[in-house]
Amino acid sequence: MSALLDVRDLGVRFNTPDGEVNAVNGLSFSVRPGQTLGIVGESGSGKSQSMLALMGLLAANGRATGSATYRGEDLLAMKPKRLNEIRGDRIAMIFQDPMTSLNPYLTVERQMTEVLEFHKGLSRKSALSLAINTLEQVRIPDAARRIRMYPHEFSGGMRQRIMIAMALLCQPDLLIADEPTTALDVTVQAQTMALLRDLQKEFGTAIILITHDLGVVAGLCDDVMVLYGGRVMEQGSAEKIFYKPTHPYTIGLLGAVPRLDHTGETLTAIPGTPPNMLRMPQGCPFSERCTFAMEQCRTDRPPLVAANDPGVLRACHKTADDIAVHMAGVR
Ligand SMILES: Nc1ncnc2c1ncn2[C@@H]1O[C@H](COP(=O)(O)OP(=O)(O)OP(=O)(O)O)[C@@H](O)[C@H]1O
Ligand code: SF4
Ligand SMILES: [Mg+2]
Repeated sequence: MSALLDVRDLGVRFNTPDGEVNAVNGLSFSVRPGQTLGIVGESGSGKSQSMLALMGLLAANGRATGSATYRGEDLLAMKPKRLNEIRGDRIAMIFQDPMTSLNPYLTVERQMTEVLEFHKGLSRKSALSLAINTLEQVRIPDAARRIRMYPHEFSGGMRQRIMIAMALLCQPDLLIADEPTTALDVTVQAQTMALLRDLQKEFGTAIILITHDLGVVAGLCDDVMVLYGGRVMEQGSAEKIFYKPTHPYTIGLLGAVPRLDHTGETLTAIPGTPPNMLRMPQGCPFSERCTFAMEQCRTDRPPLVAANDPGVLRACHKTADDIAVHMAGVR
């Protein structure tokens, strides 16, 4: 099946008073209809900016390069008017904090019907009935009455459902969900993920899911891309990357960093903090924190190349076998 979205060599740069920030570098991926791609990485790794770039929503000091072909049209080269038509209709986005995308001064009804009037040209009456229907699909109880409420009158979990309903209103081909559950408690997170999975089955929507949590990826995604310092560290099928990670950073994210002192213990978090984008290491972006780092890692940037395992790309000077031998040694 051909790709719905094909992104090649996506880059995002920001001009700042302290110099240029290369927030995203050389991202290439494609998403087929109905497929789910997970984008994982710590804070500041470039997850949100890469998606905002596709949607034409970068801050004024940001610039995107590369191409993003959606049904034969390049989103990055599109006139703002055309992008506006696609955004919220064919491609919808859910943000980390629902209150940033819900207008606190308008009822949910007004916000939902406005979207349908703008994109679908529906009358207020038909828009209302479709909006109620969609709220019911995301399991908002008593939707016909609650639609008249304001966003702050809902709990965090319910607000997130309303965001999902807003995003699905026009039955988009692609839903970009940026950390849709971070603001929620663990039980509600699990319910929201289960809901997304059900809705995807029902509507056949492709999803790009941004998350800190590789566990969520394993449950929901077909493919995964692991980002660090604005670059891809490892990319491929979620199953392979989750169950057989071969990149030191992915292994770290999974909470099993081997200790170099061969005590047989593992650390549960990656030591250190993500790099400052203005002072990226010259070699591998992860070299300052990687327990496997060697001299070459500090000077040469590892290219993203095909791993021995078909369908997996990785950027690391150590081979997957080197890493596997070491991991076996510490277990
Ligand atoms: N307007 C801006 N000017 C300069 N740098 C920016 C701007 N917006 C974002 N950045 C930088 O781009 C980098 C990537 O940010 P991004 O928001 O994509 O991170 P993220 O992976 O989504 O992190 P989080 O998990 O915290 O949401 C960060 O280092 C951030 O500081
Ligand atoms: S290239 Fe070197 S520093 Fe980077 S992840 Fe691989 S071993 Fe670690
Ligand atoms: Mg983000």
